[in-house]
Amino acid sequence: CLSAAEDFDWSANNHDSFYYGTFPNGFSWGAGSSAYQTEGAWDKDGKGLSIWDVFTHMKGKTFLNDTGDSSCEGYYKIKVAMLLNLNHYRFSISWPRIMLTGIRSDHVNEKGVKYYGALIDELLEHNITPIVTLYHWDLPQVLQEKYGGWQNISMINYFNNFITFNNPWSVAVEGYETGEHAPGLKLRGTGAYRAAHHIIKAHAKVWHTYYTQWRNKQRGMVGISLSGDWGEPVDITNQKDIEAAERYVQFYIGWFATPIFHGDYPQVMKDFIGRKSAQQGLGTSRLPTFSSQEKSYIKGTSDFLGVGHFTTRYITQKSFPSNRGYTYFSDRDVAELVDPRWPDPGSEWLYSTGSLGLPPSTQYGNPMIYIAENGVSEKMMCTELCDDWRILYYKAYINEILKAIRDGVNVKGYTAWSLLDKFEWDEGYSERFGLYYVDFRNKNKPRYPKASVQFYIHIIKSNGFPR
Ligand code: NOJ
Repeated sequence: CLSAAEDFDWSANNHDSFYYGTFPNGFSWGAGSSAYQTEGAWDKDGKGLSIWDVFTHMKGKTFLNDTGDSSCEGYYKIKVAMLLNLNHYRFSISWPRIMLTGIRSDHVNEKGVKYYGALIDELLEHNITPIVTLYHWDLPQVLQEKYGGWQNISMINYFNNFITFNNPWSVAVEGYETGEHAPGLKLRGTGAYRAAHHIIKAHAKVWHTYYTQWRNKQRGMVGISLSGDWGEPVDITNQKDIEAAERYVQFYIGWFATPIFHGDYPQVMKDFIGRKSAQQGLGTSRLPTFSSQEKSYIKGTSDFLGVGHFTTRYITQKSFPSNRGYTYFSDRDVAELVDPRWPDPGSEWLYSTGSLGLPPSTQYGNPMIYIAENGVSEKMMCTELCDDWRILYYKAYINEILKAIRDGVNVKGYTAWSLLDKFEWDEGYSERFGLYYVDFRNKNKPRYPKASVQFYIHIIKSNGFPR
């Protein structure tokens, strides 16, 4: 393995623009996970059903019909030993584990609350800051059945018991438009926009609740974590490709970030969806609108911007289905391609070292940014601890973050995704993102450090890449 040499040499395998330097003091290093992907114990200790429990128990929804029923057995296994070099640990709270029906006044499950309380206490004892996500996709099934989940505006009030969202793009598009994710609905042309609209309002409401009720007591921060995959024009001399790439980003991170930082959807979304809706003979746009009161309520409701970034796609202006099966989202008129020159560890996640996908700091007023997810998977079913390509990926991306900081972007922390191999949604266990290998065939789910663990620790201890 690359990292086997104790005196790992930064200068080995560097790309041309590698930048030596260290991160600012206080930069926070972490790793992440989410409840449904790691906890298992899906029906234990009074936990209610989530939409993912129900979805994965239907045949044909995930790779090999895999489920998160036991996953890494994270509910039973203390993780802190694996976190000792980190400054923060990002995890999510399973809503139905602490509220069976999703509604606080119905029933709070004390055992669930105790589990998260113990985890937080243990992290704090070891000086590890908990970064808690309140919605990493496992909606209580009751709320889906009774109200239609995120299609229903009343969800805003139920969610107000929590803080805020992970990657709402996936929740809206894959949950309510393409149906690849739970709850598996295919409400073409409207489902994603409506879900996103409600999610943005729910997020804003939680932010306001925290500020009026908790902020003085806890002094915490509330933010949202958006999927920040990036788009580069296929042909940088072609204006249409440049605009398509810009549009791609606006229909992705901009869809959520623009209302949250500026109060309304990006103009390009309003224009494109409005025009398409008119062409379809609809009287109003399929993109919902915010009232002026809502705009000012939503604007400024994020103390930091969480960015989940995995890859960059090349974008060209086309109104036909792209080569990667993204047939559903024709409103944006873009086709996306991956660069065949990039190393491919076996999964669809590729890396480009050229652009990290950090939103231009000026676009949202240079907010505090936490990289909430960044990592790469391998598609291997056998034990593979020698993950050299992951080492190269982390080195390249963390180096890009250092450069962004040098250039004035306000990045405060980095979260490697993920701590453990885990259930990868519709891909089941076929994609492994972990710094630690988990043997899922063994009932005890033992974990083994991959080579990338030592490498990541080395970066943390050096606080970057000193020469
Ligand atoms: C983003 C999701 O938030 C996370 O749960 C998932 O593991 C990664 N994408 C990789 O697919």
